[in-house]
Amino acid sequence: MKLIFGPMATLSHQGMRRTLSKFGGVDEYYTEMIHTSSLVAGGQYEPYYILNETENEKIVWQLTGNKLDDFAEAAKIVCQKGGIGIDINMGCSAPDIVRSGAGIAWMKKPLSETAKILESVRGVLNENKINNCKRLSVKFRLGAEDWTEKKFYNFIDMLVSEGVSQFVLHPRTQKEKLCRPIRLHYCEELAKYILEKYGTYAKDANAFQIILNGNIKDVESAMAAQKKCPSCHGIMIARGAVQKPWVFSQIKNKMNSEYYFEQTDIISKKEIDLLNVAKVFIEDLKECQPKDFWKSRAHRFFVYYCNNFMFASQVRCNILNCVNLEDMILQLENYFEKMPEERFLK
Ligand SMILES: Cc1cc2nc3c(=O)[nH]c(=O)nc-3n(C[C@H](O)[C@H](O)[C@H](O)COP(=O)(O)O)c2cc1C
Repeated sequence: MKLIFGPMATLSHQGMRRTLSKFGGVDEYYTEMIHTSSLVAGGQYEPYYILNETENEKIVWQLTGNKLDDFAEAAKIVCQKGGIGIDINMGCSAPDIVRSGAGIAWMKKPLSETAKILESVRGVLNENKINNCKRLSVKFRLGAEDWTEKKFYNFIDMLVSEGVSQFVLHPRTQKEKLCRPIRLHYCEELAKYILEKYGTYAKDANAFQIILNGNIKDVESAMAAQKKCPSCHGIMIARGAVQKPWVFSQIKNKMNSEYYFEQTDIISKKEIDLLNVAKVFIEDLKECQPKDFWKSRAHRFFVYYCNNFMFASQVRCNILNCVNLEDMILQLENYFEKMPEERFLK
């Protein structure tokens, strides 16, 4: 099973990828959603969204938007930078995104309208001759609250006919919050459906890849998901990877006894120094994001990273009250002074 870092606005940026790469184990990095119209218009911060210096060959560009022409233009821009391919966000249920006609709104429009977007991006990928950025993928949910299997599989048939080859299912409905239990059996059903209906026609056995996503946060949950979804080809981890940037490496080790990742500064000992990891992330953030983003991106990181600690809400609250990065690290140092036994993970 391949392991994929999921797309998260404000989190799946080059700084986070850099930190993750120091631990290894990631097969693909989805970028945070990149707004097609802003990218095409040359927005002030857009260059930071398309940075690709870390493991460029593993990057998947996730695009979001609502205008056909902008999708094609944005696809041309990211495609030139290399990577594995382009993903279209058809699962985001944030109200402002849906209202704008993007994200999961694409699952609710007439299929022919959604197909046009895919066709235009597919066309750009097909024409790309300068590097290997060729694959078209879509990340989606089950649908809106009134979803039915019929509607869902009609949508899947349309994706297949438009040349989508990687399918990432986050098996929740539009309104289901991330704290709700996940129904992974839908990922297994989807994999079986695609492989049985279309797999035999594919020249390449790996032509279709079905990826499960939701609530995978450690080795145990990854192994349980693999057992539940044996037909799936990969696991996407989003929040869990921010909390534990070493999680991919741990899962890889468990799944593949031959997996070996060269030791680096960050994992040179047989233990993980949680203070050092936070400091490394802050440095990566400073080097890879504009100053205007430092505070908000660091806060977002600590929202999840603090879940590693016994008194998570207290330390999180202290850090979220800090306005600069140095004070955030100081708060963490204070915490470890009081709780030294929490600093090192064996
Ligand atoms: C802060 C945040 C931002 C997100 N942004 C995106 C996004 O840009 N594109 C997307 O497809 N999904 C986005 N998601 C959804 C995640 O990719 C993922 O589907 C969800 O968090 C469930 O996976 P997890 O349990 O591994 O976190 C976001 C989730 C979070 C928590």
